[in-house]
Formats: sequence, structure tokens, C-alpha cells
Amino acid sequence: PKVIFSGIQPTGVPHLGNYLGALLQWRTLQDSFSSSFSSASSPSNRLLFSIVDLHAITIPRPAHQLSADKKQMLASLLSIGLDPSLCTIFYQSMVPAHSELQWILSCTASTGYLSRMTQWNYPILQAADILVHKATHVPVGEDQRQHLEFARECVTNFNAAYGCQVLVPPETMVTERAKRIMSLSDPAKKMSKSDPSVKSRVLITDSPEAIKTKIMGAVTDSLAEGKVTGYEPETRPGVANLLEILAAFGGQQGKKTVEELGEEMRGTGLKELKTKTAEAVTEGLREVREKYEGYMNSEKQGKMMEEIIQTGAKRARESAEETMREVRGVVGLGA
Ligand code: TYM
Repeated sequence: PKVIFSGIQPTGVPHLGNYLGALLQWRTLQDSFSSSFSSASSPSNRLLFSIVDLHAITIPRPAHQLSADKKQMLASLLSIGLDPSLCTIFYQSMVPAHSELQWILSCTASTGYLSRMTQWNYPILQAADILVHKATHVPVGEDQRQHLEFARECVTNFNAAYGCQVLVPPETMVTERAKRIMSLSDPAKKMSKSDPSVKSRVLITDSPEAIKTKIMGAVTDSLAEGKVTGYEPETRPGVANLLEILAAFGGQQGKKTVEELGEEMRGTGLKELKTKTAEAVTEGLREVREKYEGYMNSEKQGKMMEEIIQTGAKRARESAEETMREVRGVVGLGA
């Protein structure tokens, strides 16, 4: 059976990088799963998505802010089409087994990778998130590869230390396209929530006006008389990034690779490329934005979100508890 797990930080509304690099893949997996199983409680295939609020407190913020950010993230996940009857959506802190396994893993974790990290707890907790559900597949953007490599190392170390096969090594799933969306203000950096410039990223609930302003203002280059010369991420990263975004959104109707799109648009002015991209993004996110307004502004939907979180936590606790019984058993903890 396949167990798919992934996590996202409660950063409020996700940006295009999160959306194209990870969330669309989550949605696609859910949709392809729904034909092979009928409910999230099915014992075979399972899909779990966590809003990782414990990871978020590595940088403290006011409590009310964290609550608001979590709620916005939940509304966003529902708005992109994650369906709580098909997958388990939960707040990490409501499943204490994640923290318990983190401690246990930290006792056998090798220090090689950790010594290069600024922060030790972070990758161990991330490994625990995945391993506590015995996830077989983890859909993420390119930037998470190393953390997942480390999670596999944790499996090897734990299983070796206790002479068992209790933990399962997870496979990383990275999309072919759009696995690393770059900042609109600096195409040498990835699009990120922590960039102080709000113009560097498009949020998936941005208004058409905001999307237009941000994309028309995207930093590109002054090569080739301001024309597209193909998909060249090395030499023209700003242009390549826009092509990547346009291809990802265009891809919902036709199936064109970013290379094909680059060829097709050869000779097109950058202004036109930006206009087209802004239009495609606006159109592609229209439904998401409308649904999001519904979730945030209706009392009924607000109540529904609370239920979703309670149900999600219950299911996730059951899933985690199964693994923890085995873990405690081989370690010699518990009754
Ligand atoms: P986070 O919250 O930074 O990002 C969530 C997902 O979005 C992807 N992503 C991007 N993809 C393409 N281009 C970008 N510019 C871009 N920015 C972000 C990320 O790769 C990720 O898939 N450590 C994780 C959260 C986490 C987690 C886990 C993930 C905690 N436990 C267990 C998987 C499994 C993080 O900070 O993601």
C-alpha cells in the first residue's frame, strides 16, 4: 500500500512556488488516488497532509498570528481542492507522536548532515513527521531533497540500532516542471515567504490587479533586445522562470513542456510574455481565490474547517499510534 505524506509551514496563504512545486502535485495525487480507494479511512492507500505548526515556532510570532496563519493555510489547502473525505489534513501539534518520535530518532541520528544545519531539531522533526506514518512517498519541491535524504538516513540508523525493520524509507517525489520557482525580484533566489519584498512572490489568492503588477514588474534581463530566445534557465533565469510559470498554468489545458513553450515564443517581446503569464495565472487561480473567500468569510464554512481539523487530527493520531506501538516495542519503552 502507498502512504503519501507531505507538510507545509503555516505561512498564511501559500505562494506560487508552494503551489506549483508541491500543492498541485498533492491535488493530482489525491485525484488519482480517489479512483483507487473510496475513503480516507481505507486501510490500504493513505494520503496525509500536515500543516506543520511545530516547525513554525522555530521563529516565534504572536500566538494570535500563528492561529491566523494556520487557518489561512487550511482554507488555502481546501481551496485548491484537497478534499477531507479523500485525505487527512491536520495540524502537526495535535498529533504528539510526531514530537515523541523526533526525540527517539534524535538519539540514533548521525551528526554528519546535522552539523551542517543551523538548527538541529528541524530536520529530525521533519523526519519524524514522515516516518511516524510510515510514508512511502513524499511529494515536495526541489528544496526539500536534502531533508528527505536525511529522513532516509534516520531510518537506516534507527533500524540498525534496534535490529529491526520497523521504520520505512520514504521516496522523494519531485515534479518534472516547476520544482523550483524563482523570486520575481531576483531570479537567482527561490520564491520564498521569508523574502521581505511582497513583490517577489504571487500568493494564490492575490487579486488580478496584484498578480498583474507583480508579474509585469518581474525582474528579467536586457538581453536579445527584450525578446524571448527559448528556455534558458542558466543564462536567462528571469525569462525562464516566467516561461516555467506560464507552462505550468497553460499545462492545465494543453500539455506543453516549458522547452516547447520557449521555442514557440521565440521572438516574442518580454512585455507580451509577462502579459500572457499574468493572464494565465489570474485565470488559473480564479476558482481558488473564490473558494478561499468563501472559507474565510462564512461562519458555516468556518465551523466546517474546525470539524475538518478535529477529524484530521483523530485519523492522524491513529495512523501515528500504530507506528509508535511498534517503535516503543523495539526500543523497550512503554508497557
Ligand atoms: P515549506 O512550507 O517551505 O514549503 C512547502 C512546499 O512548497 C515547496 N516550495 C517550492 N517549490 C518550488 N519552488 C519554490 N520556490 C518553493 N518554495 C517552497 C517546498 O519544497 C515544499 O514541498 N520543511 C518543509 C515542511 C515540512 C515537510 C515535512 C515537508 C515539515 N515536515 C515532512 C515534507 C515532509 C518546509 O518548510 O516546506
